[in-house]
Amino acid sequence: MDIMTYPSPQSLDRAAAQLLARTIARKPDAVIGLSTGRTTGSIHRAFCEEIRRSKTDISRVTFFGIDEVTGVSREYAGACYKMLKTEVMDPLGIPEERFLMLPTEADDFAAACRAFTAELERRGGAELIFLGLGENGHLGFNQPGTPFSSTAWHSVMYPELEARIRRETGTPEGKHLGGVTLGLQDILQARNLVLAAKGTSKAAIVQKMIQGPVTEDVPASVLQEHTACLVLLDRDAASKL
Ligand code: GLP
Repeated sequence: MDIMTYPSPQSLDRAAAQLLARTIARKPDAVIGLSTGRTTGSIHRAFCEEIRRSKTDISRVTFFGIDEVTGVSREYAGACYKMLKTEVMDPLGIPEERFLMLPTEADDFAAACRAFTAELERRGGAELIFLGLGENGHLGFNQPGTPFSSTAWHSVMYPELEARIRRETGTPEGKHLGGVTLGLQDILQARNLVLAAKGTSKAAIVQKMIQGPVTEDVPASVLQEHTACLVLLDRDAASKL
């Protein structure tokens, strides 16, 4: 793992944006995985600005989301599809055929997962996956205890997120809400991984991810085993290292 620490969240955002833009400049047909959340929201804004500033050609790149909320409409503001569309695809004019997402609703999630990973492979496989980090160490929706050998699957949310989405969407208790996600093995197959974490609320899990044992109790600890994984931290997230 390589670790870069930045004095502020804003300087991290700019560095992450430049790194993404450089990846596309180097490989114009790159397949790039993105994550949603507070951490990546401002990175995505900086990325769109960087693409415009640098006039990087994005006409051949494919973006995909590494995970999706299930049991809601994909037009719901908290669905990963809607977030990535609003934050990246619409501002950059990326058409649907170069924006791949797992579905929010499906009769057969296992089949949808297989089709999704097959399509990523068909396009050359992920050149880079940009990850956020859950406070419990989750990557995508791979919660603690997920086998490192997992491939794309229909998982669960963590309780705080499920409660918030249930509240915001008025989803009754009887209806299942979950998360469909690339598995840890799929994530590790990306040629390059970048994980960003900001703020003191991430400091403890950042320390475990980097300096703790590689254990399925901390899904992100598996990143220690990837040969090209870069971790971007602001000063607060790095404060326990
Ligand atoms: C959600 C997403 C993850 C993301 C995580 C971090 O669980 N499914 O892909 O990494 O949130 O979110 P935040 O950056 O808001 O802490």
